Amino acid sequence: MEIKPSDKSVWVCQCGLSQDMPMCDGSHSKARKNEQEGKLYVYDKACQDVVEEKDDV
Ligand code: FES
Repeated sequence: MEIKPSDKSVWVCQCGLSQDMPMCDGSHSKARKNEQEGKLYVYDKACQDVVEEKDDV
């Protein structure tokens, strides 16, 4: 999510995978490539591997 606290934009993570919280570090791109719509994915603490996958209700 883009926010503009001044004339320069900053990006806040909304996927939960960033290693630089609360800022986006680009980790969402991996999820976007590997995840299917309608599924909920749980990642390990390093946010590198999916440890659980289930239907999103
Ligand atoms: S939105 Fe989470 S890393 Fe970019």
